[in-house]
Amino acid sequence: MQAYYLRIMTNLNTFKIDITKAEQSKINQVDFDNLAFGRVFTDHMFVCDFVDGVWQQPKITPYQPLTIEPSARVLHYGQAVFEGMKAYKDDQGKVWLFRPDQNFKRINTSAARLAMPEFPESYFFKGLEELLKLDNQWIKSGVGNSLYLRPFVIATEPAIAASPANAYKFMIICSPAKAYYTGKVRVLFAEKYSRSANGGVGFAKAAGNYAAQFYPTSLAQKEGFQQVIWTDANTHENLEEAGTMNTFFRVNDTLLTAPISDRILDGVTRKSLVQLAEDLNIKCEVRTVTVNEIKTAARNGELKEIFGAGTAAVISPIEAFKHGDEVFELPEITDSYANLLKTSVLNIQHNLSEDKHGWRYEVK
Ligand code: COI
Repeated sequence: MQAYYLRIMTNLNTFKIDITKAEQSKINQVDFDNLAFGRVFTDHMFVCDFVDGVWQQPKITPYQPLTIEPSARVLHYGQAVFEGMKAYKDDQGKVWLFRPDQNFKRINTSAARLAMPEFPESYFFKGLEELLKLDNQWIKSGVGNSLYLRPFVIATEPAIAASPANAYKFMIICSPAKAYYTGKVRVLFAEKYSRSANGGVGFAKAAGNYAAQFYPTSLAQKEGFQQVIWTDANTHENLEEAGTMNTFFRVNDTLLTAPISDRILDGVTRKSLVQLAEDLNIKCEVRTVTVNEIKTAARNGELKEIFGAGTAAVISPIEAFKHGDEVFELPEITDSYANLLKTSVLNIQHNLSEDKHGWRYEVK
């Protein structure tokens, strides 16, 4: 276990969260074998308000609708950031988080970019711990099962001047999850629209980054492609990320992935896979990946795989891509790096293998 996690765990008992339990659990109404991503929520949620420059006493309450004024700034200017994390249960019933320190750091990096206040570390971890204890039954064991956790912050101040709010809500809601994408994904390489720009908010998990992709993605979907792989806004020549996932390309036996920048999300799964590839002696180059080299590799039979990596999607193989008028179908492959890396990361997440980098955090 990392010294960082030990320090957090030691400090957690220094304060209490106010807890109001749900009178009755909804869990018996849920079909855990047939879960569409992000539609069902657990019995409780974590809420903490920021008022007059101070984060107030955190609470856990039954999952319920919010009351905010129609003038709340989040509704007008999209001042909102979020995170995606998962809790896993092993065969002994122990509950684990995967690299939660990275999510904590990232939500505050995202918040700073949107002129929002930092959330305290102890509140974040205590909130997760208490919520997961209360909703423990919602975490199913077994690889493929998880509880998706969605921390988020919204600007609640009722004021429509276009400036940062002085009131916010930090919340965590939880949703039992299986795969985000079922089956292989077909993608389009972006040629016209862009997800992010230099100096922009592409690196942040800002709500608006996702909404901005919906329209171009819906155009791609009409052509039979579920996702867009975004290219750099200036030239559309370099492959960046897929919006819900970072991307990896296997040319012969080398994996390629774009370096993070102010346009690309610093994905927790992405950086874990770069490390795991090294552990498994898979050559992985973190460098600019061009549309042209991937098309050339596809034509020469050297492009073996493309896959996306993210918390919700885990690792999602891509079976075809389109650029210009050309559609490139990828070959079926046995012993894919996608499968090897997926097994490797899932085994760590589910406490089925050694955790030599100290990534697991036990929720006790
Ligand atoms: C995640 O992978 O956690 C994300 O935030 C992507 C989201 C669109 C589901």
